Amino acid sequence: MTRILVAAEVESFLRAREVPPDLHVDLLDPGAPIPSGEHEGFLALLTRRIGPAELDRLPRLRVVANMAVGYDNVDLDAARDRGVLVSNTPDVLTDATAELTWSLILAVARRVGEGERLVRAGDWAGWEPTQLLGTGLRSKLLGIAGAGRIGHETARRAGAFGMRVAYWDQDDRPELEREVGAVRVPELEDLVARADVLSIHLASTPGTRGIIDGPLLDVMKPGAILINTARGDVVDETALMERLQSGRIRAGLDVFEAEPHVPEALRELDNVVLLPHLGSATRETRQAMFDLAWDNVVRGVRGEPLLTPVT
Ligand code: DGY
Repeated sequence: MTRILVAAEVESFLRAREVPPDLHVDLLDPGAPIPSGEHEGFLALLTRRIGPAELDRLPRLRVVANMAVGYDNVDLDAARDRGVLVSNTPDVLTDATAELTWSLILAVARRVGEGERLVRAGDWAGWEPTQLLGTGLRSKLLGIAGAGRIGHETARRAGAFGMRVAYWDQDDRPELEREVGAVRVPELEDLVARADVLSIHLASTPGTRGIIDGPLLDVMKPGAILINTARGDVVDETALMERLQSGRIRAGLDVFEAEPHVPEALRELDNVVLLPHLGSATRETRQAMFDLAWDNVVRGVRGEPLLTPVT
């Protein structure tokens, strides 16, 4: 019998699938240490750090199927050294994450959070011509930092709001330029300086961690909006908090440096909309992510090629 370890939080998605009779699933509770055992496959979540110590507890492991497009929680070198394959879940969450990105853009531009809090608090005294005035989006520039799948889909939706698009990426994205009329900006600093809305779609890697730092935030236009639905550590959170406190810029954040910790100083600010990492959180998407991760883990333990390998 081949044993597979599956994060217990996704049990409901597992129920929609048939477990082949030659496979046995053990559920791993959140926060519980990885058991030392005979498991050959591990279907893991982004909240689980998988480094050398964790991998060493699973000497027969052949595959880690991460149920996320990002895989910064997995030490790829340590996995490679131990002959463990790693997969992620690209594509299936692209639309959901682009939609959530736009939820944040619109919420920040039109001060939806502040308005909602006003009504809930019972403090709304009636319509006023100057109450909670936001920013229109038509003709403004959407800057996409990282024009992969999610950046691309976010950019495609800009036309619906009459926005222009520019992007910064290590690669040319001719399809994005053709489809959306997006302009490539060779320097990240130029994109940050020109964008009315800067949307971050960079994977967290040693090269991108902290890339949006204080000096870069200082070149943003007054009143510009920073959106992050990628990974928290791509932005220097302390530097961002200081710029938000000054009131010079606004932000919409779905991700944070040390989740689930969100600094109190950030939570006190009205010019930032905060979400609990909801980018891919639709029923359909999460089932599709599970299905892809499950198919990868089953293939991995059987020695078949993974559908979406990252190593
Ligand atoms: C991912 O997949 O990396 C997202 O952050 C969660 O869906």
